[in-house]
Amino acid sequence: MTQKSVRVGIIGGGLMGKELLAATRRWDALVDHSVRPEVIALADPSPAVRDWFSGAGVSNIYEGYAELLANPDVDVVYIAVPHNLHEEIYLATIAAGKDFLGEKPFGIDLEAAKKIVAAVQSSKVFVRVSSEMPFYPGAQGAINYVKSGALGEIVEVRAGFLHSSDLDIKKPINWKRQVKFCGAIGVMGDLGMHVAHVPTRLGLQAKSVYSILDKIVETRVDNQGNQVACDTFDNAVLAIKATSSSQTREFPMFWEMKRIAPGESNSWYFTAMGMNGGVRFSTRNPQVLERFTYKDGEQSWIETQPGHKGNWPVITGGIFEFGFPDSLLQMWAAFFAEREGLLGDKFGCARVEEVLESHKVFDAAMKSHSSHAAEKLSN
Ligand SMILES: NC(=O)c1ccc[n+]([C@@H]2O[C@H](COP(=O)([O-])OP(=O)(O)OC[C@H]3O[C@@H](n4cnc5c(N)ncnc54)[C@H](O)[C@@H]3O)[C@@H](O)[C@H]2O)c1
Repeated sequence: MTQKSVRVGIIGGGLMGKELLAATRRWDALVDHSVRPEVIALADPSPAVRDWFSGAGVSNIYEGYAELLANPDVDVVYIAVPHNLHEEIYLATIAAGKDFLGEKPFGIDLEAAKKIVAAVQSSKVFVRVSSEMPFYPGAQGAINYVKSGALGEIVEVRAGFLHSSDLDIKKPINWKRQVKFCGAIGVMGDLGMHVAHVPTRLGLQAKSVYSILDKIVETRVDNQGNQVACDTFDNAVLAIKATSSSQTREFPMFWEMKRIAPGESNSWYFTAMGMNGGVRFSTRNPQVLERFTYKDGEQSWIETQPGHKGNWPVITGGIFEFGFPDSLLQMWAAFFAEREGLLGDKFGCARVEEVLESHKVFDAAMKSHSSHAAEKLSN
């Protein structure tokens, strides 16, 4: 198959910027994808990051993002920078007329997200939001089961992302643990879009939120050995009243976002239970998808093994385990196909309206934290 070449620039070459370069280097694992992305540019103020990308063969290396945006050879940008820089850099990228995949959470708060989304909507640029976990085959199976209507009347939905990233109290401070860089929404900014993506895509709409936001570790060591304030929320549990497009009765939906979840490593899960059926999936055990039915007075669970059968076929055998880098490859495959108008009926990357919806929930959660009461979502 002839593949269209797309030249990519990365702004922010840290953890996630490097993952994109690695994903493009595994692109040949995809069978017959219509696009071939190549990372041709990187902008990052860190000399060590610039050296890494230069060593990996990326030819246009910049200290400042404006130079990358001015490069006419860059077709698509991936922006993976701290949250306090989202608003400035996303708006500059839109003004430069470049398509991009933006990292969540689209700025430090609801106001920043509104500005970015309004600018996207009044432009012609193609923009999607990074959220790779729903691309696990088991997650796709869960989504399709809910979409089939097999659940009947929805009783309860649970979605969460449970990290152990901050379990070690000796782990040094970084920008994700400081309000001035991460935003006051803390862990909701880090993990929230991952949790919001599937419920929002399924048309489950939050109406009100009661939150429990928890700061567990108050200080961490900096690179000079001083204890400094670690002032973001580590964990957030939201009790939401929601409706779905098929029913107006409000039902409970629980979102859990935790950087300190003892016993978990990087578990993303989605569970939805209805009067006729249910489904549960967790990346803790990616080889298990459980589907439930209630028929003729009998409750039964069926376990299937989703294997490696993602939306975008790969050379990897269907029986093999699926993991985090595979979900990134599938997400990027969806992004580049959709940009060409070739997504078809496959699951697409998170949309800007969906990230805005997630910010409205986090905003209500912040208000609930202050009022100690359930708060309705604002418009
Ligand atoms: N999708 C996911 O699974 C996932 C995982 C982790 C982080 N993220 C998101 O990705 C984004 C980046 O997180 P990360 O973990 O890669 O952070 P990181 O700290 O590892 O990398 C951020 C990079 O941005 C660079 N940077 C800082 N200022 C810059 C500027 N003005 N111009 C260009 N680059 C600049 C830093 O030097 C650093 O290399 C955040 O929005 C975060 O929420 C997403």
